[in-house]
Amino acid sequence: MDKFHIRGGVALKGRVSISGAKNSALPCMAAAILTPETITLHNIPYVRDIITMRRLLEDIGAHVLTPELRTHKISAANVELMQAPYELVKTMRASVLALGPLLARFGKARVSLPGGCAIGARPIDLHLASFSKMGADVFLEAGDVVARAPRDRLVGAEIQFEKISVTGTENVMMAATLARGKTVIHNAAREPEVRDLGELLNKMGARVRGAGTPKIEIEGVEALGGAQHTIIPDRIETGTFIVAGAITKGELEIKDCNPEHCNRIIGKLRDAGVEIEEVNQSTLRVSYGKPIRAADLKTEEYPGFATDMQAQYMTLMTQADGQSEITETIFENRFMHASELQRMGARIQISHDKAVVEGPTNLIGARVQASDLRASASLVLAGLIAEGETIIDRVYHIDRGYEKIETKLKAVGANIERVRESVTSPLSASQEVRG
Ligand code: EPZ
Repeated sequence: MDKFHIRGGVALKGRVSISGAKNSALPCMAAAILTPETITLHNIPYVRDIITMRRLLEDIGAHVLTPELRTHKISAANVELMQAPYELVKTMRASVLALGPLLARFGKARVSLPGGCAIGARPIDLHLASFSKMGADVFLEAGDVVARAPRDRLVGAEIQFEKISVTGTENVMMAATLARGKTVIHNAAREPEVRDLGELLNKMGARVRGAGTPKIEIEGVEALGGAQHTIIPDRIETGTFIVAGAITKGELEIKDCNPEHCNRIIGKLRDAGVEIEEVNQSTLRVSYGKPIRAADLKTEEYPGFATDMQAQYMTLMTQADGQSEITETIFENRFMHASELQRMGARIQISHDKAVVEGPTNLIGARVQASDLRASASLVLAGLIAEGETIIDRVYHIDRGYEKIETKLKAVGANIERVRESVTSPLSASQEVRG
């Protein structure tokens, strides 16, 4: 199992390029199930969750070609299996995004019910309730969700999400494109990834209006065609590198990003004293001007401050002057990184949905363990500033959503190594080093 060995204290300097957004690429790949024609997606990030989605598509009978590493040509002309198995769903909850497209195109689907995960219970009741509203017969059988559409075609409906759900909105949006009649989604998620999926669906011949706003209207059509689409940049990777530049007192140029999608993240980091310049529509420059100051944070649905940036922000607040209070409103168990940061000397008090961070604190390198994707990013950031060496276990979490983060960090000066340790000798660090 791979680990990261990081020696802190280097001010990062240079240029880093942002990859495509994992959370847009996943639903866009699932959308290919909606048509027998070829969907070509560009700017796909080379991360593990994409490989899992590709496997899911191939398992159901789709063909996925990659003429280039970040271009996927997907053809779902010969889908035979309307099923997303447990093995895949347990490694990636986003496999549930196959449910809407399979149900819409084939009138039936079977998807393993995702269990809970490190950050929360994460039920999919809102997805299932929406498909029932669209006329589907939905029931659980042997740990699987089984869904069947009446006369093989869903019916348009008024959907009111009692809670904003990103993949819930995306699943229903995809299903509604082939439904009989009109679907209206109220209290829809407004994330840029939802808007990006809407753009792809319309290129495929769908009639989606309002993606990216709280109210989305979809007129169902008989069939969808092929399309070509470029995935938006990853705003969470962008935010992570802004923090990396600020926390190491460095100077970074962040290219191929979309500052507009990061408005609230940039706004909050500026409140904390981070100097961020918008060089142009796809480039940001981060520089260290003055000491980081404590600033309270509350995570919210887009356009609020993303929960996927909360852990990275917590690490930054360990270096801030004063006390900051972080309130996590989206997931009920998303402070797992705090106890690992405490192991490095951070002063953090957790109570329910609030974390109080005292700063500034000199972090000391230690052996720590990643519990989920964004928690692992917060530990990498801590390792970049800690005294001595930090060893991060279970970096497979970070590979799920960050493309070669150690290579990108090394290119701007970080002292970070990926170390593969054979399972037989967990303690020996002097094994083969892979860049
Ligand atoms: C998406 O997850 C992202 N994943 C998550 O990113 C992100 O943290 C999350 O949205 C919130 O922004 C992808 O896009 C693949 P939700 P999703 O449904 O759609 C509750 C990362 O790090 N809820 O918006 O699964 C749920 O429990 C990942 O890249 C229900 O109760 O999140 C949560 O409390 C982690 N019932 C809240 O709503 C439902 O049916 C928001 O969840 C659905 C959701």
